[in-house]
Amino acid sequence: MKTAKIILDGKEYEFPVIEGTEGEKAIDISNLRSQTGYITLDEGYANSGATLSEITFLDGEKGILRYRGYPIEELAEKSTFMEVAYLLIYGELPTEREFQDFRQSIFHHTMIHEDLKRLYDHFPKDSHPMAILASMINTLSGYYVDSMNPLKRDQQEVSIRRLLAKTPTIAAYSHKKSIGHPMVYPDNKRSYIGNFLRMMFSVPAEDYEIDPVVEKAIDLLLILHADHEQNCSTSTVRLVGSSQANLYASIASGVNALWGPLHGGANQAVIEMLEHIYEDGGNTAKFVEMAKDKTSGFRLMGFGHRVYKNFDPRAKIIKRATDEVLAKMGINDPLLEIAQKLEEVALNDEYFKERNLYPNVDFYSGIIYRAVGIPTNMFTVMFALGRMPGWIAQWREMINNPKTRIGRPRQIYTGANQRSFVERSKRG
Ligand code: CMC
Repeated sequence: MKTAKIILDGKEYEFPVIEGTEGEKAIDISNLRSQTGYITLDEGYANSGATLSEITFLDGEKGILRYRGYPIEELAEKSTFMEVAYLLIYGELPTEREFQDFRQSIFHHTMIHEDLKRLYDHFPKDSHPMAILASMINTLSGYYVDSMNPLKRDQQEVSIRRLLAKTPTIAAYSHKKSIGHPMVYPDNKRSYIGNFLRMMFSVPAEDYEIDPVVEKAIDLLLILHADHEQNCSTSTVRLVGSSQANLYASIASGVNALWGPLHGGANQAVIEMLEHIYEDGGNTAKFVEMAKDKTSGFRLMGFGHRVYKNFDPRAKIIKRATDEVLAKMGINDPLLEIAQKLEEVALNDEYFKERNLYPNVDFYSGIIYRAVGIPTNMFTVMFALGRMPGWIAQWREMINNPKTRIGRPRQIYTGANQRSFVERSKRG
């Protein structure tokens, strides 16, 4: 077995080298502290593998993303979000029978408890829908005390279905609440996305036809967001779940982690930035210069990625889809032009080239969401809808692994040494 040697205080220690199925290498330091008394320090965890995982493979240098071995490009072209959800959670593409059973078992749970519905009345009208989503998902644990034990397989399965089924309902209700429209009950005859669109956009006074272009575009975006291995929100779900908190509580924590503008909140921040540039006269070069100036506090939102250092394969697919969707819908969005100009200026700029900063998944997704009528403050909720199967799959892998231990990083303390308490009257 290949090993890595570390010499500390003149003494040599050996640690096993682990290799993944795609040749990724790691030094297994599980016994580092017990053998040497040392720990490792890796702020932001850029060099630390938190787990072995069979779910998603990502090669940031080559721009590769695969779910359970299937390239994202193939899934985007040939699959559907529901099928991808099954694939991520259970490891294989479903047979027709498995797919229908899965679909039916999810649709059985699309309604939310009427009391839960009344909770919406207690949020102020302009509450951010991510605040509502996280609160409502957490609150589900209060309604389903029968399936709270994360270690029981049957309780896991029902909780998984409830989450997949109720998240679109919860998300659409938060939008309806914010615009003062009546909430629309789910319609189980529709597709997963069709049902969501109907709950979002239909009103009792009018007929509602689902536009297949819109349905397909949302399905594609959700597929592209469905998993991304150990990102901030997924690691949060795993960490909270490792304490054996119930699934709803773990996922609600993931929703909160996603909300930040450096993570899923970037899609809202991108559109706000593009609107700002547009209103300012459209001088993209000015904003690129500002992003390079560290004292400005401004970053190009939708640019850069911790792992992708060449291109983000999801961004490539979304960029193509943006052109198609806008053309099919006959929309001419000036923000698309701003985004294209911004991308061109940044990609030809030494600062961005040197640091390998490229458009990420969030750069163009907002243009599609805008085109299909999703309000800007719902963009990150759309990300959460898409990421749900990934969070669930990663949680399920973690909780069913007998080797899982509670996640508990260490630290290097840099504060004051021991000192004695001084009475307040004697201080200063
Ligand atoms: N604009 C300007 N400079 C940037 C940007 C940006 N968007 N992103 C990184 N940099 C610079 C950064 O200042 C640093 O420069 P220097 O080496 O001179 O100090 C260098 O590039 C490396 O950046 P970092 O912050 O150390 O990189 P990170 O891996 O810690 O952060 C990131 C990754 C995605 C948080 C960051 O690129 C960023 O803030 N991007 C904008 C927000 C965004 O689009 N987030 C969505 C990420 S993709 C979807 C998701 O994960 O949810």
